[in-house]
Amino acid sequence: MVLGADRAEPLVIVGAGYVGLVTGACLAAVGRSVTLVEIDSERRDTIARGEVPIFERGLGPLLQQVVATGALTVEADLGRALRDSRMVVIAVGTPPLPDGRPDLKALNDVAATIAHEARSDTVVVIKSTVPPGTGRRLQRLLSLASHPLHAISCPEFLREGCAIDDIRNARRFVVGGSDDVAVDRTIRALNPFETPVIKTSNTAAELIKYGSNAFLAMKISFINEMANLCDLVDADINDVARGMGADERIGEASMRAGLGFGGSCFPKDVAALEHTARREGFSFGLLRSATEVNEQQRMRFVQKIRDAVGNHLGERRIALLGLAFKPGTDDLRHAASIVIAHRLLELGAAIVVHDPVAMDEARKVLPADVEFAADPYAAMADADVVALVTEWPEYLNIDWRRAADLVRQRNVVDGRNCLDSDVLAAQGFNYHGMGRPSVRMRWGRRASDVAATEAEMVVA
Ligand code: UDX
Repeated sequence: MVLGADRAEPLVIVGAGYVGLVTGACLAAVGRSVTLVEIDSERRDTIARGEVPIFERGLGPLLQQVVATGALTVEADLGRALRDSRMVVIAVGTPPLPDGRPDLKALNDVAATIAHEARSDTVVVIKSTVPPGTGRRLQRLLSLASHPLHAISCPEFLREGCAIDDIRNARRFVVGGSDDVAVDRTIRALNPFETPVIKTSNTAAELIKYGSNAFLAMKISFINEMANLCDLVDADINDVARGMGADERIGEASMRAGLGFGGSCFPKDVAALEHTARREGFSFGLLRSATEVNEQQRMRFVQKIRDAVGNHLGERRIALLGLAFKPGTDDLRHAASIVIAHRLLELGAAIVVHDPVAMDEARKVLPADVEFAADPYAAMADADVVALVTEWPEYLNIDWRRAADLVRQRNVVDGRNCLDSDVLAAQGFNYHGMGRPSVRMRWGRRASDVAATEAEMVVA
């Protein structure tokens, strides 16, 4: 009898992408026996050598250790892996289709193989982000097998850049399913960190995942709209967000105004939830607005760059600092940098870019006429505008005295509101944030420090 099997039952994780790989490594490190099933042979070979195919803080040593001890192995054949396990986790990608729906082809293929090959009482856990109703549909498919198989929905909430910590110190372990024994087996197998458990139906679990990401995306768009208002009434959004966030019902998280959200989750999940609502004949207006604000935010940034040099970008050289969708990753999916670079090129600007880790990825997706600089100072040489796109820690420590001698014009547009305008002003830079008072320099002095009559002359 397998039901109620002990906590060390061996696991199969299908898909060695972001979620599968990090989850597998974390579980193997606490004594689980994990087999990763991956169809990409190059990725398989990399993992088998104990090397990481993605950039994620702390994952390198962890993976090396669990591969070396044999706690984590990698395999091409799902059918073979299922012979030794009755707990299989689906963590394949569900990339967006043009109409916003996630592409479930990989998930469906895996589910069909499991339905055919899994042994009696196998628990099939969906960790991939899937539309509401998918877990229930999987259960119906599994019910066609000649022996009992159980579909469990167990969404993942990890963030890139701090994924290991997010797994070890998660706030909730959401587990949705209709079979209590299968739910309990899932908790024993996949929740070694004793994260507080929330038991639900499959569909509620799926909606918790979409709802969480959509809500955070909406929060970011809200603070960005507040920033746009700050621009008009001359207030600093960083102060406003700090004050609002002090109310614990609002909270400080996801309240950083700037270039909006990118990455593999927020844009895709907002679109998918909106699609689900539309399919049900319901118009989820807040979600549509969150996406629209996010797209506009990137164009506002471009406009600020144009404004900094008198609107015409022909012959202007723009240094873009940061390409990844956020610091701590080389991921460029839905990164603001891509849209911004394309638009600036369209407007005739010359673009030079730098990112501490995402340059190789960026070479694959940015147009050929973009220049790549070896470090931020090389990027800033002869620039008319320095435009900060991703708030990498090393950009927060730029030596602006040195930069001042390198640039052609001293203009900084800070897309993440993370630079100190006083420090920049001290080196003669004009500073423009996203919802922060601009600092404009004249004759090496801050315009606001110039005597009133002089200042009027400046404005005139
Ligand atoms: C997100 C969710 O946080 C995570 O729970 C889920 O499992 C996957 O999606 P991730 O995409 O890694 O994680 O990044 P996150 O740190 O949440 O940031 C998403 C985007 O929002 C980034 O582009 C970031 O720059 C932007 N962001 C975040 C803001 O613009 N302002 C903020 O205050 C926070």
